[in-house]
Amino acid sequence: MSSGDVRPKVVICRDLGPAMPLLMDRTDIEVVLWPENRGCERAWLLENIKGAAGVLVLLPDTVNAELLEAAGPSLRVVSTMSVGYEHIDMPLMAQRKIRVGYTPDVLTEAVADLSVMLALMAGRNDGAAYTLVKDGDWPKFNWSPFTFCGPQLSTTASSPTRTVGFLGFGRIAQATLTRLVPFGITHCIYSGSPRAAPDTARDAALRAKHTLAALERVDIDRLARESDVLFVLTPGGDETYHLVDAAFLRKMKPLSVLVNTSRGTVVDSDALATALREKWIWGAGLDVVEGEPKIGKDHPLAKEPRCVIVPHIGSATFQTRMDMATRAIDNLVGGVFGTEMPAELGG
Ligand code: DGY
Repeated sequence: MSSGDVRPKVVICRDLGPAMPLLMDRTDIEVVLWPENRGCERAWLLENIKGAAGVLVLLPDTVNAELLEAAGPSLRVVSTMSVGYEHIDMPLMAQRKIRVGYTPDVLTEAVADLSVMLALMAGRNDGAAYTLVKDGDWPKFNWSPFTFCGPQLSTTASSPTRTVGFLGFGRIAQATLTRLVPFGITHCIYSGSPRAAPDTARDAALRAKHTLAALERVDIDRLARESDVLFVLTPGGDETYHLVDAAFLRKMKPLSVLVNTSRGTVVDSDALATALREKWIWGAGLDVVEGEPKIGKDHPLAKEPRCVIVPHIGSATFQTRMDMATRAIDNLVGGVFGTEMPAELGG
């Protein structure tokens, strides 16, 4: 802060592109922006957060005691441009009375779109088929009636039922279901947190709206056994760590497809690689992998031809990222000035 500048300082851990004028055009705050086009360096953040009233972080920026110590007592708000907040020590925030903003809702549709895309890509051998063309091998490709065939997501006259399963049945799962109904999906099953009470009224309404033969909350064993396509859409963290493990994958159908657009830690990568290699399941579509971004081409999942992996781009549309950035900025400003934050955790 320049001497005599009494405007509250906010630290922004990444250039927010077209949303930056929403911050830069304000005359009532001092904006300190990480100047490079890569993840914010911890040392820079620790240095610059001193005396800040607010900080806008992203998933890789850990918000813990070290960061709060560096900030000092001036820090009033942490705003994350993400719906996930496992990088923020929430009990500590409550203890220090620091408000926390996040960006739910605005990314629901984009992540649901990508979930369906990955289900289709994984089922239809997109990894191997796309690689064949990119590698220039189409001219050598010997077409035959069943090469590159995979399980069909939509129902057909000869295969008139299809069950989709959801591990976690929140906003994104329900938006994904909505997209799948026109594919002729007949049954929907899901498992939720054991702490959440069943919502039978909601389920009955959803079942009627989508004219499904069944929509049912089931235990995790049935979820594994009955899903033709299983979408992992539960938050990360200790409670859901490796919920999809070897025992779970062993129960799945040989033609089933697993999609994870939530958090890599929910799925045991080694077990999934084994399941794909040994054909316990048909394929996998992943937007997230445990240990990301350190997923090189030698990672066991990257080597599996029936595993389609994209680098955590679930919310990466122009519209959604702009909405997320706007909400993160609005949360930050609300927290700094002690006014309403559009999406406050525990607020
Ligand atoms: C989030 O916001 O938590 C998503 O994982 C980012 O796409």
